[in-house]
Amino acid sequence: MEAIKLNQIGISFKGSGSYVPNQILTNQNISKKVDTSDEWIKSRTGISERRISGIGENVVNMGYEAALAAIEMASWDIDSIDLIILATSTPHDLFGSAPSIQAKLAAHNAVAFDLTAACSGFLFALVTASQFLKMGSYKRALVIGADQLSSYVDWNDRRSCILFGDGAGAIAIEATNEFNNFIGFDMKTDGERGSFLNLPFNNNIDSIINNIDFMNGGFSPIQMNGQEVYKFAVKEVPIILNNLFKKINYSSEDVDWLVLHQANQRILDSVGERLKIPKEKILSNLEYYGNTSAGTIPLMIDEAIRNNKIKQNDIIATSGFGAGLSWGAALIKWG
Ligand code: COA
Repeated sequence: MEAIKLNQIGISFKGSGSYVPNQILTNQNISKKVDTSDEWIKSRTGISERRISGIGENVVNMGYEAALAAIEMASWDIDSIDLIILATSTPHDLFGSAPSIQAKLAAHNAVAFDLTAACSGFLFALVTASQFLKMGSYKRALVIGADQLSSYVDWNDRRSCILFGDGAGAIAIEATNEFNNFIGFDMKTDGERGSFLNLPFNNNIDSIINNIDFMNGGFSPIQMNGQEVYKFAVKEVPIILNNLFKKINYSSEDVDWLVLHQANQRILDSVGERLKIPKEKILSNLEYYGNTSAGTIPLMIDEAIRNNKIKQNDIIATSGFGAGLSWGAALIKWG
């Protein structure tokens, strides 16, 4: 590749990939476990089924498959990858899972690390990677979103277990001095509202020896106040996207595709209405996958690219939102 001049560095979107486990859990299946129904789940969320990791599956092998597909689409040599960021809240190793993906890919020249921001994780990781590229530090980055929430869902809690599934997606981005397709972004967190959605440390107290106690490692299942999270999403997502449009002199009419974090169809519809973006521009695949946390946005983008919906130079407005609370928005041009 040619040398890049720092003041002209832009971002190019080169490839995408995704992976979901084969095992399908339908609404009817869940109704055998808790008091719910296909009709209730579908009408309140839009979800029909979700994927559950098989035995031995985890964010490393899901993220690896998604990454490999993105690298193939980008036609990259593995050795040319400088940076791998894995957005996940469910690492296979709490010390970090990205280096295991790096090892599986044999991406020997890349530095790899995890980033945790729940359902905003992919968006935050994309912004983080783009900053390394724009500063001239690295040229090629792989941004992966992968989560295995099935391991942390309380499968006896009908208010939350209906929503989540497992999956991964990846996007390959590259520094270029010819144009900039990462048009703008914004990110926000509000820890004061963090208690609305948690996967908390379980605080189990044990003793090492007499009088020396410690808190045993481990996490409690997901705890969620669904109504508060819903209100947060339908209020904050249109605000952050509208403010971003204003900041960069765009309008919602310039958008070819709205790719929101796939949490609930009613959230997607409401945000679309508030932004005055017509339904046919709002991408949705949550009917088949539910909420795969950091996986949803790249999984949706990859599916739309491979189905020839998203094409070169299409403008995509995207927003991730969820636990933290955290939320963010980005405007990109594909290609
Ligand atoms: N099946 C049947 N009934 C259920 C149910 C289920 N799976 N879950 C809850 N209910 C019941 C409740 O017990 C309640 O009954 P009650 O009125 O007798 O007390 C009733 O349905 C309504 O519950 P409510 O919580 O008000 O439902 P809702 O319309 O808010 O829908 C969610 C619940 C979870 C689908 C919705 O709040 C939501 O999607 N929130 C956002 C969550 C989210 O996206 N989280 C991840 C963000 S990244």
